Amino acid sequence: MISHRSYTVEPWAVRETDLNLDVLAQSESVFALSNGHVGWRGNLDEGEPHGLPGSYLNGVHEVHPLPYAEAGYGYPESGQTVINVTNGKVLRLLVDDEPFDLRYGRLVAHERVLDLRRGVLERTCEWTSPAGSTVRVRSTRLVSLAQRSVAAVAYEVEAVGSRSRVVIQSELVANEQLPGSNGDPRAAMALQSPLEPEDDFASGSRLRLVHRTRRSGLRVGVAADHVVTGPERTTTRSESGTDVARLTVTSVLEPGQTLRVEKLVAHGWSGTRSLPAMADQVDAALAAAAHDGWPGLLDEQRAYLDDFWARADVEVDGDEEIQQAVRFALFHVLQAGARAEQRAIPAKGLTGSGYDGHAFWDTEMFVLPVLTHTAPQAVAEALRWRHNTLDEARERAAQLGLGGAAFPWRTIQGAEGSAYWPAGTAAFHVNADIADAVVRYVEATADTAFEREVGVELLVETARLWRSLGHHDHHGVFHIDGVTGPDEYSAVADDNTYTNLMARQNLLAAADAAERHPREAERLGVDEEESAAWRDAAAAVHIPFNQELGVHEQHAGFTRYQRWDFANTRPDQYPLLLNFPYFDLYRKQVVKQADLVLAMYTCAGFFDEQQVARNFAYYEPLTVRDSSLSACCQAVVAAQAGHLRLAFAYTAEAALMDLQDLEHNTRDGLHIASLAGTWMALVAGFGGLRHDGTGLRFAPRLPERLRRLAFNLEHRGRRLRVEIGADKTTYTLLAGPPLTLHHHGEPLRVSTEEPAVRAMPPVPFRPTPEQPPHRAPNGGA
Ligand code: BGC
Repeated sequence: MISHRSYTVEPWAVRETDLNLDVLAQSESVFALSNGHVGWRGNLDEGEPHGLPGSYLNGVHEVHPLPYAEAGYGYPESGQTVINVTNGKVLRLLVDDEPFDLRYGRLVAHERVLDLRRGVLERTCEWTSPAGSTVRVRSTRLVSLAQRSVAAVAYEVEAVGSRSRVVIQSELVANEQLPGSNGDPRAAMALQSPLEPEDDFASGSRLRLVHRTRRSGLRVGVAADHVVTGPERTTTRSESGTDVARLTVTSVLEPGQTLRVEKLVAHGWSGTRSLPAMADQVDAALAAAAHDGWPGLLDEQRAYLDDFWARADVEVDGDEEIQQAVRFALFHVLQAGARAEQRAIPAKGLTGSGYDGHAFWDTEMFVLPVLTHTAPQAVAEALRWRHNTLDEARERAAQLGLGGAAFPWRTIQGAEGSAYWPAGTAAFHVNADIADAVVRYVEATADTAFEREVGVELLVETARLWRSLGHHDHHGVFHIDGVTGPDEYSAVADDNTYTNLMARQNLLAAADAAERHPREAERLGVDEEESAAWRDAAAAVHIPFNQELGVHEQHAGFTRYQRWDFANTRPDQYPLLLNFPYFDLYRKQVVKQADLVLAMYTCAGFFDEQQVARNFAYYEPLTVRDSSLSACCQAVVAAQAGHLRLAFAYTAEAALMDLQDLEHNTRDGLHIASLAGTWMALVAGFGGLRHDGTGLRFAPRLPERLRRLAFNLEHRGRRLRVEIGADKTTYTLLAGPPLTLHHHGEPLRVSTEEPAVRAMPPVPFRPTPEQPPHRAPNGGA
């Protein structure tokens, strides 16, 4: 756990002013750079010391058998795990025959800065070797958002005070040794030596290694080229072996002289391309990067991010920490998805190997809603990935005796990767979550080509799943029995309200889409009878409600269960899943993460204000937030129910999840959904953003901690700016044709000529519900 304040608070950067080796692994996640295709953890340039070395290529994984003590029909036979691919970021340094290793000698100064506008990680340090030679090292690193396969480092050494002989070894390293796992079952299984060498090459300043994974049969190529600038008599030599390719640069530096190496690295992988084709691919990518060189990469990165921030920035006046955190969050959400291009967006992005590098519903329900309004192209790509895995999902449904497609609970390449049925495949809601992401994206972009090519089929196949998974009882009521909702402390339950409401939306969206696209519907074999059956099921979906308590049931019968014994649960017994048997969690009223509360956000039209307030008050004292996905959902609904202070506290928890390592597992990678949830808490919580097919609806309310909250949104080719003050909100259309939106239910027309300004209605007063003991929001240190 980070027990000190690691980072200074600044609006556009995350700065670490000294090096604390105890939290090295956490900072490697925080300082990870990625574009959604290539991910480099923030490991120190020289490779060691490290917490967890990490270089990832989205989609590169190994498969391994899943052992079961008691096997059952339909259990997945093999699992998938992200692997640490060839590391192109290593630059080792020798100073007067001593390795530059910060564990030895004297570290005079060390600073790292993640610059959110330039998209680079900068490092400056001054170090005196045990023998007394002092050097300054400066490095700047980027993973290019503009050139998807490219990453680069500029590394500079300066002699201080006396003459130094320095050697820089710029390397490509495959099969790095990984530290052992820490025993948390949720952390990745470290796969040692996953790559078999196929080819190595070194000539002049160029290096290349090609490897292949043993079982999944994926070919991985990484190549590097260098520009070296140093004093006269600087020499270079390159060599390669099976797992290492190296350029060695040697120089003697007078005090004040510098040796500089610019290293460009290109990555490629494929399950089909031949060895020569892979080698050519990475060489070509390298040539493209070298064309404008390091300065060109820096300029492109800045331009890409300027464009992103113009669309996506959120301004928070009144809390500098939250201001920094939301930009940090948006930056990492962008990094996770920007160039994923028909690959999954994993729960940790490409910042660590936690959760084995798997993607979950986190993508569709947390990450894509943010990208829908800030980088919509990335959403289309992420959903195209789901679409590409439809065959696998159809096979899975057939295997389970169901219709349509059953998407996996967790996966890298499309196959179900969960070995635990109750909190795995039974969480069928992931299918409705995917459908919801399709609907949101199409609604926000009017991308009809996407809807036709990708959307309709995703909606139809998931609707078919619901129709076959549910059944009409003898009164005609439609039930979906034996499923797990978002709350993983209830499992295989009947009529989970979230699932049923989301399935209802899914069924209706499929029927509507089939009507809008009759040719596609016909191609998919949808006839009138089938879409009528979807509408019937949707109209008859059972939503369990406890009349006596006046609240919705999380699932049928939930409110009848015994309450968890919160009073006798010690703070150190959280998360409960690591300290109590699932068996007991499942049969008690205890909620791991927002479930019914999430339904009130995602299916907002179904609940009236009184129900929102009562349900929130009922579930809040049961919700322990053992998942990082919870705080942001609770923030949104707390704001709606008028508990603005509580909403702010949850916003802070979501926002500081990784910057303050609140769940003590940031070392395994960032919580991308919680980071996305920061935006959600601010924009859907205090901004009140909802959409229900009739356009954008806002219901802004500012917590007293903030003086102003402003954000931009992309919507149907328009750019809208919403600025919320203490007593009024201003809607300004920055670009695009006039737009009608809703402010607290009132329709408003905004155009680029005329902003609309509206006062905010008073916030209803309600007593703020309590959390379970020891589970009040953790707004950070
Ligand atoms: C949560 C899931 C989530 C997964 C990955 C689990 O702890 O309960 O909802 O999808 O983590 O973030």
